[in-house]
Amino acid sequence: MKIVILPDARAVSCAVADIIVQEVRRNPQAVLGLATGRTMEAIYAELCARHKGGIAELSNISSFNLDEYVGLSEEDPRSYHYYMRENLFSTIGIEANKGRLPKGAAHDPEQAAAEYDVALAASGGVDMQLLGIGENGHIGFNEPLSGLSTRTRVVALAKATLEQNAKMFGGDYNNVPKQAITMGIGTILEARSILLVATGSAKARAVAQSVEGALSASMPGSALQLHAKCIVVLDQGAASEL
Ligand code: GLP
Repeated sequence: MKIVILPDARAVSCAVADIIVQEVRRNPQAVLGLATGRTMEAIYAELCARHKGGIAELSNISSFNLDEYVGLSEEDPRSYHYYMRENLFSTIGIEANKGRLPKGAAHDPEQAAAEYDVALAASGGVDMQLLGIGENGHIGFNEPLSGLSTRTRVVALAKATLEQNAKMFGGDYNNVPKQAITMGIGTILEARSILLVATGSAKARAVAQSVEGALSASMPGSALQLHAKCIVVLDQGAASEL
Protein backbone atom coordinates (compact mmCIF):
# COMPACT_ATOMS: atom_id res chain seq x y z
CA MET A 1 0.00 0.00 0.00
CA LYS A 2 1.16 3.50 -0.74
CA ILE A 3 -0.10 6.02 1.85
CA VAL A 4 -0.43 9.71 0.95
CA ILE A 5 -1.28 12.16 3.77
CA LEU A 6 -2.35 15.68 2.78
CA PRO A 7 -3.22 18.78 4.84
CA ASP A 8 -6.99 18.86 4.24
CA ALA A 9 -9.98 17.49 2.33
CA ARG A 10 -9.53 20.00 -0.51
CA ALA A 11 -5.97 18.79 -1.15
CA VAL A 12 -7.25 15.19 -1.06
CA SER A 13 -9.90 15.89 -3.74
CA CYS A 14 -7.34 17.56 -6.00
CA ALA A 15 -4.79 14.75 -5.58
CA VAL A 16 -7.38 12.04 -6.25
CA ALA A 17 -8.69 13.90 -9.31
CA ASP A 18 -5.07 14.16 -10.55
CA ILE A 19 -4.59 10.39 -10.25
CA ILE A 20 -7.87 9.63 -12.06
CA VAL A 21 -7.16 12.13 -14.84
CA GLN A 22 -3.69 10.62 -15.35
CA GLU A 23 -5.26 7.16 -15.64
CA VAL A 24 -7.79 8.42 -18.21
CA ARG A 25 -5.08 10.23 -20.21
CA ARG A 26 -3.19 6.95 -20.41
CA ASN A 27 -6.35 5.09 -21.37
CA PRO A 28 -9.24 7.33 -22.52
CA GLN A 29 -11.60 4.33 -22.48
CA ALA A 30 -10.65 3.25 -18.97
CA VAL A 31 -13.19 1.28 -16.95
CA LEU A 32 -13.49 3.04 -13.60
CA GLY A 33 -14.99 1.52 -10.47
CA LEU A 34 -16.92 4.32 -8.76
CA ALA A 35 -18.19 4.98 -5.25
CA THR A 36 -20.79 7.22 -3.64
CA GLY A 37 -20.98 9.07 -0.32
CA ARG A 38 -20.01 12.50 0.90
CA THR A 39 -16.26 11.99 0.45
CA MET A 40 -16.76 11.39 -3.27
CA GLU A 41 -18.90 14.49 -3.86
CA ALA A 42 -15.87 16.79 -3.68
CA ILE A 43 -13.87 14.49 -5.95
CA TYR A 44 -16.61 14.38 -8.58
CA ALA A 45 -16.98 18.18 -8.37
CA GLU A 46 -13.25 18.46 -9.07
CA LEU A 47 -13.47 16.03 -12.02
CA CYS A 48 -16.51 17.87 -13.45
CA ALA A 49 -14.67 21.21 -13.20
CA ARG A 50 -11.68 19.79 -15.06
CA HIS A 51 -13.91 18.24 -17.74
CA LYS A 52 -15.87 21.47 -18.24
CA GLY A 53 -12.65 23.50 -18.29
CA GLY A 54 -11.21 21.30 -21.05
CA ILE A 55 -8.37 20.10 -18.80
CA ALA A 56 -9.59 16.50 -18.89
CA GLU A 57 -11.74 14.60 -21.38
CA LEU A 58 -13.79 12.12 -19.41
CA SER A 59 -16.67 11.35 -21.78
CA ASN A 60 -15.12 8.15 -23.18
CA ILE A 61 -14.73 6.29 -19.90
CA SER A 62 -17.15 3.66 -18.72
CA SER A 63 -17.84 2.74 -15.13
CA PHE A 64 -19.27 0.29 -12.65
CA ASN A 65 -20.45 1.56 -9.28
CA LEU A 66 -19.89 -0.39 -6.12
CA ASP A 67 -23.38 -0.54 -4.75
CA GLU A 68 -27.05 0.45 -4.72
CA TYR A 69 -29.87 0.21 -2.18
CA VAL A 70 -32.39 -2.57 -2.74
CA GLY A 71 -35.89 -1.29 -3.52
CA LEU A 72 -35.12 2.29 -4.61
CA SER A 73 -36.05 3.23 -8.18
CA GLU A 74 -33.38 4.79 -10.39
CA GLU A 75 -35.34 8.08 -10.29
CA ASP A 76 -35.47 8.19 -6.48
CA PRO A 77 -33.33 11.16 -5.32
CA ARG A 78 -31.93 8.97 -2.52
CA SER A 79 -30.73 6.27 -4.91
CA TYR A 80 -27.10 6.01 -5.97
CA HIS A 81 -28.28 6.06 -9.62
CA TYR A 82 -29.62 9.55 -9.00
CA TYR A 83 -26.49 10.56 -7.05
CA MET A 84 -24.20 9.52 -9.92
CA ARG A 85 -26.27 11.36 -12.56
CA GLU A 86 -26.31 14.51 -10.43
CA ASN A 87 -22.67 14.46 -9.30
CA LEU A 88 -20.87 13.13 -12.39
CA PHE A 89 -22.59 11.44 -15.31
CA SER A 90 -24.76 14.31 -16.57
CA THR A 91 -21.80 16.73 -16.57
CA ILE A 92 -19.25 14.50 -18.26
CA GLY A 93 -21.80 13.05 -20.69
CA ILE A 94 -21.88 9.40 -19.66
CA GLU A 95 -24.95 7.50 -20.86
CA ALA A 96 -26.72 4.99 -18.60
CA ASN A 97 -25.40 2.05 -20.64
CA LYS A 98 -21.80 3.16 -19.89
CA GLY A 99 -22.24 4.34 -16.30
CA ARG A 100 -23.55 1.20 -14.68
CA LEU A 101 -24.84 0.56 -11.18
CA PRO A 102 -26.39 -2.54 -9.63
CA LYS A 103 -30.15 -2.64 -10.28
CA GLY A 104 -31.48 -2.26 -6.75
CA ALA A 105 -35.08 -1.98 -7.99
CA ALA A 106 -34.90 -5.26 -9.95
CA HIS A 107 -37.68 -7.78 -9.40
CA ASP A 108 -35.02 -10.32 -8.41
CA PRO A 109 -32.10 -8.45 -6.77
CA GLU A 110 -30.03 -11.66 -6.32
CA GLN A 111 -30.25 -12.33 -10.05
CA ALA A 112 -29.42 -8.68 -10.80
CA ALA A 113 -26.34 -8.96 -8.56
CA ALA A 114 -25.11 -12.09 -10.33
CA GLU A 115 -25.66 -10.45 -13.74
CA TYR A 116 -23.68 -7.40 -12.60
CA ASP A 117 -20.60 -9.55 -11.91
CA VAL A 118 -20.96 -11.12 -15.37
CA ALA A 119 -21.24 -7.68 -17.06
CA LEU A 120 -18.20 -6.49 -15.13
CA ALA A 121 -16.12 -9.44 -16.25
CA ALA A 122 -17.37 -9.05 -19.85
CA SER A 123 -16.18 -5.42 -19.88
CA GLY A 124 -12.62 -6.62 -19.22
CA GLY A 125 -12.68 -5.65 -15.54
CA VAL A 126 -12.06 -2.46 -13.62
CA ASP A 127 -8.85 -0.53 -14.36
CA MET A 128 -9.06 1.76 -11.34
CA GLN A 129 -11.42 1.32 -8.38
CA LEU A 130 -12.26 4.37 -6.30
CA LEU A 131 -13.22 3.48 -2.71
CA GLY A 132 -14.44 5.28 0.38
CA ILE A 133 -14.64 3.61 3.76
CA GLY A 134 -17.41 3.48 6.35
CA GLU A 135 -16.76 4.38 9.98
CA ASN A 136 -17.11 0.66 10.73
CA GLY A 137 -14.59 -0.20 8.02
CA HIS A 138 -17.04 -1.24 5.30
CA ILE A 139 -15.96 -0.96 1.66
CA GLY A 140 -18.81 -0.73 -0.82
CA PHE A 141 -21.51 -2.18 1.42
CA ASN A 142 -19.35 -5.10 2.59
CA GLU A 143 -20.00 -4.85 6.30
CA PRO A 144 -17.74 -6.33 9.01
CA LEU A 145 -17.60 -10.15 8.76
CA SER A 146 -18.16 -10.15 4.98
CA GLY A 147 -16.06 -12.91 3.44
CA LEU A 148 -12.83 -11.77 1.83
CA SER A 149 -13.63 -13.59 -1.43
CA THR A 150 -17.28 -12.51 -1.74
CA ARG A 151 -18.81 -11.56 -5.11
CA THR A 152 -21.53 -9.05 -6.01
CA ARG A 153 -24.58 -9.99 -3.93
CA VAL A 154 -27.46 -8.79 -1.78
CA VAL A 155 -26.38 -7.86 1.76
CA ALA A 156 -28.06 -6.66 4.96
CA LEU A 157 -26.78 -3.28 6.15
CA ALA A 158 -25.29 -2.91 9.63
CA LYS A 159 -27.11 -0.64 12.09
CA ALA A 160 -24.03 1.61 12.17
CA THR A 161 -24.33 2.07 8.38
CA LEU A 162 -28.07 2.79 8.54
CA GLU A 163 -27.29 5.47 11.14
CA GLN A 164 -24.36 6.86 9.17
CA ASN A 165 -26.49 7.17 6.01
CA ALA A 166 -29.75 8.33 7.68
CA LYS A 167 -29.20 11.96 6.70
CA MET A 168 -30.42 11.29 3.14
CA PHE A 169 -33.55 9.63 4.57
CA GLY A 170 -34.95 12.40 6.76
CA GLY A 171 -32.50 11.72 9.59
CA ASP A 172 -34.28 8.52 10.70
CA TYR A 173 -32.34 5.29 10.25
CA ASN A 174 -35.62 3.35 10.13
CA ASN A 175 -36.24 4.93 6.70
CA VAL A 176 -32.96 3.68 5.20
CA PRO A 177 -33.37 0.53 3.04
CA LYS A 178 -32.19 -2.46 5.05
CA GLN A 179 -30.54 -4.20 2.11
CA ALA A 180 -28.23 -3.28 -0.74
CA ILE A 181 -26.53 -4.90 -3.71
CA THR A 182 -22.76 -4.51 -3.41
CA MET A 183 -19.70 -5.68 -5.30
CA GLY A 184 -18.03 -8.27 -3.09
CA ILE A 185 -14.60 -7.91 -1.51
CA GLY A 186 -13.31 -10.54 -3.98
CA THR A 187 -14.81 -8.52 -6.84
CA ILE A 188 -13.21 -5.29 -5.60
CA LEU A 189 -9.78 -6.93 -5.23
CA GLU A 190 -9.83 -7.89 -8.93
CA ALA A 191 -9.52 -4.24 -9.99
CA ARG A 192 -6.12 -3.57 -11.57
CA SER A 193 -5.56 -0.67 -9.16
CA ILE A 194 -7.38 0.69 -6.11
CA LEU A 195 -7.63 4.21 -4.73
CA LEU A 196 -8.97 4.41 -1.16
CA VAL A 197 -9.95 7.90 -0.02
CA ALA A 198 -10.86 9.03 3.50
CA THR A 199 -11.23 12.44 5.11
CA GLY A 200 -12.09 13.50 8.65
CA SER A 201 -11.25 12.08 12.06
CA ALA A 202 -14.45 9.96 12.18
CA LYS A 203 -12.67 7.63 9.73
CA ALA A 204 -9.35 7.51 11.64
CA ARG A 205 -9.98 4.23 13.48
CA ALA A 206 -11.22 2.38 10.38
CA VAL A 207 -8.27 3.71 8.38
CA ALA A 208 -5.67 2.74 11.00
CA GLN A 209 -7.08 -0.77 11.41
CA SER A 210 -7.37 -1.25 7.65
CA VAL A 211 -3.85 -0.07 6.90
CA GLU A 212 -1.89 -1.18 9.99
CA GLY A 213 -4.15 -3.74 11.68
CA ALA A 214 -4.45 -7.50 11.24
CA LEU A 215 -6.00 -8.82 8.03
CA SER A 216 -9.47 -9.66 9.28
CA ALA A 217 -13.05 -10.04 8.05
CA SER A 218 -14.00 -7.89 11.08
CA MET A 219 -12.41 -4.93 9.28
CA PRO A 220 -13.31 -5.17 5.56
CA GLY A 221 -10.87 -2.39 4.63
CA SER A 222 -7.97 -4.57 5.81
CA ALA A 223 -8.55 -6.79 2.72
CA LEU A 224 -6.91 -4.01 0.70
CA GLN A 225 -3.58 -5.10 2.21
CA LEU A 226 -3.84 -8.06 -0.18
CA HIS A 227 -3.82 -5.82 -3.26
CA ALA A 228 -0.50 -5.16 -4.97
CA LYS A 229 -1.48 -1.73 -6.33
CA CYS A 230 -3.46 0.20 -3.72
CA ILE A 231 -3.00 3.91 -2.97
CA VAL A 232 -4.58 5.37 0.20
CA VAL A 233 -5.15 9.14 0.15
CA LEU A 234 -5.94 10.74 3.52
CA ASP A 235 -6.26 14.15 5.14
CA GLN A 236 -4.73 14.83 8.57
CA GLY A 237 -7.94 13.85 10.38
CA ALA A 238 -8.33 10.45 8.71
CA ALA A 239 -4.60 9.78 9.24
CA SER A 240 -4.64 10.80 12.91
CA GLU A 241 -4.53 7.27 14.34
CA LEU A 242 -1.79 5.94 12.07
C1 GLP B 1 -21.48 4.49 2.05
C2 GLP B 1 -21.15 3.80 0.70
C3 GLP B 1 -19.70 3.51 0.61
C4 GLP B 1 -18.96 4.78 1.03
C5 GLP B 1 -19.08 4.95 2.51
C6 GLP B 1 -18.51 6.24 3.06
O1 GLP B 1 -22.35 3.75 2.82
N1 GLP B 1 -21.86 2.59 0.44
O2 GLP B 1 -19.35 3.13 -0.71
O3 GLP B 1 -17.61 4.67 0.73
O4 GLP B 1 -20.39 4.69 2.94
O5 GLP B 1 -19.38 7.32 2.85
P1 GLP B 1 -19.03 8.82 3.20
O6 GLP B 1 -18.03 9.27 2.21
O7 GLP B 1 -20.33 9.56 3.07
O8 GLP B 1 -18.49 8.85 4.58
